[in-house]
Amino acid sequence: MNYFSRQQLFSKIYSHAVGVLGFKNQDVILTSFPKSGNTWVRFFFCNLISLIYWDGKIVNFKILDETMPEFGVNNLLNPWKYTKLPRIIKTHKSYLPFFSDKKTILIMRDPRDVMVSYYYFASNKKTTNFDGSFSEFIRNKKFGLQSWFRYHKSWEHINKETIFYEELKNNDKNEFFRMLNFLEISLPESIISEAIILSRFEKVKHNEEKTKHYKEKENKEGFAFTRKGSVGDWINYFSEQDLSYYHGLADQYCLQNFRYS
Ligand code: A3P
Repeated sequence: MNYFSRQQLFSKIYSHAVGVLGFKNQDVILTSFPKSGNTWVRFFFCNLISLIYWDGKIVNFKILDETMPEFGVNNLLNPWKYTKLPRIIKTHKSYLPFFSDKKTILIMRDPRDVMVSYYYFASNKKTTNFDGSFSEFIRNKKFGLQSWFRYHKSWEHINKETIFYEELKNNDKNEFFRMLNFLEISLPESIISEAIILSRFEKVKHNEEKTKHYKEKENKEGFAFTRKGSVGDWINYFSEQDLSYYHGLADQYCLQNFRYS
């Protein structure tokens, strides 16, 4: 069970309420279950901003988080000056009714790869400090596979553009152009292409290494947010029992057009 102190609860409600009040009509929701590629997509949009407004200065994780913070109080405190692009609101929340009139991009990734990535993340964050096995992790109520299915179920029938991590890996140009098309953003092709290149895994990893001090206190030594950025690595982690647990959940939740069987 996840218990909150009164103060934590108050701060969560406050942050939420201010976040809702801070919404603007043109805001875009960028939603994903954790570890599905949200940072990659935000880097792309932030690199666009940098190329247009900041003379192409290098976007690091600190700049990224300040420019496109997580849904909540920081959004209200974040005046949006970049008029050629809508404000992007990152969230990992399940669908909430006040998202209903916003254009939404949902990023989906193979839940088995998500679990591997999240396991590594939750075991290395001092705040989560998960110290169980991988099999325990995927069965964990808060982080595990069931919460992945619940999250996606909540967004299932909502009007949105779904972007798949695997397709981004396969053809980032195609997918980022598709996103811009959906958002009705038109920019010179040369800028878009440059932002795509600047947002690729190796570049982001390099940026992370250069700004290691950022969030250092939150992580255990040796942790890298940009871990592998690969597709299909789950095969090295899932036992047969884990896989049958996974297939059981897929049958139970029966998501529309589910592609990760
Ligand atoms: P791995 O741990 O599998 O490497 P999120 O940003 O939603 O938390 O997702 C994090 C995952 O996306 C991590 O996966 C991370 O390495 C990967 N990632 C981050 N930037 C990426 C990029 N530019 N290209 C591909 N994958 C990226």
